[in-house]
Amino acid sequence: MKRKILVTSALPYANGDIHLGHMVEVIQTDIWVRFQKIMGNTCYYVCADDTHGTPVMMTARKLGIPPEQLIKEVHKSHIKDFQGFYIEFDNYYSTESEENKELSEYIYNMAAKEKAIYEKEIDQLFCINCKMFLPDRFIKGICPVCKADDQYGDSCEHCSSTYNAADMIDPFCVECSNKPEIRKSNHYFFKLSAFKERVEDWINQEHVKPEIRNKLREWFDQGIRDWDISRDAPYFGFKIPGTADKYFYVWMDAPVGYIAATRNLCEKKGYNFDDIWRNGKFEIYHFIGKDILYFHTLFWPAMLMVSGFNLPAKVNVHGFLTVNGTKMSKSRGTFINASKYLEYLNPEFLRYYYASKLTSSIDDIDFSIEDFVYKVNADIVNKVVNIGSRLGSIVYKKLDAKITEPDYDGKKLIQKLRASRQNIQELYENLEYSKAMKEIIALAAEANKYIDEKAPWKVIKEDAVQASMICTTGLNALRIIICYLKPVLPVLAEGVESFLNIKPLTWEDISVDLNNHTINKYQHLANRIDIEQARNILS
Ligand code: 2FM
Ligand code: ZN
Repeated sequence: MKRKILVTSALPYANGDIHLGHMVEVIQTDIWVRFQKIMGNTCYYVCADDTHGTPVMMTARKLGIPPEQLIKEVHKSHIKDFQGFYIEFDNYYSTESEENKELSEYIYNMAAKEKAIYEKEIDQLFCINCKMFLPDRFIKGICPVCKADDQYGDSCEHCSSTYNAADMIDPFCVECSNKPEIRKSNHYFFKLSAFKERVEDWINQEHVKPEIRNKLREWFDQGIRDWDISRDAPYFGFKIPGTADKYFYVWMDAPVGYIAATRNLCEKKGYNFDDIWRNGKFEIYHFIGKDILYFHTLFWPAMLMVSGFNLPAKVNVHGFLTVNGTKMSKSRGTFINASKYLEYLNPEFLRYYYASKLTSSIDDIDFSIEDFVYKVNADIVNKVVNIGSRLGSIVYKKLDAKITEPDYDGKKLIQKLRASRQNIQELYENLEYSKAMKEIIALAAEANKYIDEKAPWKVIKEDAVQASMICTTGLNALRIIICYLKPVLPVLAEGVESFLNIKPLTWEDISVDLNNHTINKYQHLANRIDIEQARNILS
């Protein structure tokens, strides 16, 4: 039975460039999506820019341009970066869209109808100097929960708690450093507490991995507080229906962007929207980083429940990227933008490197230049590309470009390669890419060993038939290996397909021989990375 799946990655904020940290998530997701497609499943991958709220307001303000202009420019540059890494979105949309406005209002109105919204006067920080209520990111101070300093006014990066800015210790206005005063303001709350049991039930149904479930249980045990979904003007976002100067908090309309991007895709392509978000015909998979777990596993399910949309089948959570063992940092020169990487290095090499490190756990993954260069050269260039470059010229020049069939040992090798199919398939499905890459590269090593031992470049001098059988084995092995790697290295796979003169590979092709066939001239598939070249991406 073929599956129908909708996949999302977290929406990047429209206030800055895509960096290698963002790329961990979209590469992880894109590999999974491509894997589903190669298996013959229907899989749509949507994402969008997260355009509202204070991060965007602040950047626009600093640049002296309206937020509308900023988000337009950023949208173009995000799309360009993602395309550069062959991220194949079915739709890359924006939360600043008609669909998103309508859907956010719809969800809000449904919640209001269900009596899950209430108003309450709360203390808010007001800067007399700037003459405004300060939105979260305009406030910094000490976290009221763990006492970490230099935290923003909505949540703590250190302990992940969310809180009201008025509860912070020693808050100050980010714009002018003034100590803000407390003023009353009427806010709108989502009654999250009323959904506690239902969300808890949902979490217990294997929609998240056990390690995540344990974390969530801790939160439940601490008690679920209702959620302030409103912000005072000035705020860049959607106005709350029926109010004069209250806006939806960015985290209210951001995840709705998943639905809005799908609706827009359905309109453009004629797909049935209800099949995806209403009647359960599709499985919905979210990919997120561990920092935004709370939003996706507590707030979001409750919002979907109250409005009658389908809940995700899985929320997959990954860790952060570190560079040389520590957080990416501009001052250490380890903050690497996607566009900078693309200037100097092959995008597929990063895809492979991340795949070789990614597991289904929330452990952080580390990027180190030396390790990256070593791994890509050793695995992809020396073990995979090498098969094509060594055999291609023999077959093309000396064997009339024809392959025949494998010899006895060759058949055994091919069988062994095929025997890993089920296991590799499961590893991809379960996001154990690191194990999958290990297994595939071990198979490539076996293929190289076979070729080394059989030395077709020597055999060809005396026995063309035997040499042809060896090359046929080697190229069949390459075909299987590249098929296994295709979700990770789609362009390298295209290169091999055109070299072998075959149609785009699908998972089924792993079990089929390519015998008695004419190939094309070998065109160079990939170069070794030079360490000095690679170091250019660090500034
Ligand atoms: O943390 C972030 O970068 C957010 N922009 C993610 C939003 S994901 C979704 F819920 F919209
Ligand atoms: Zn101020």
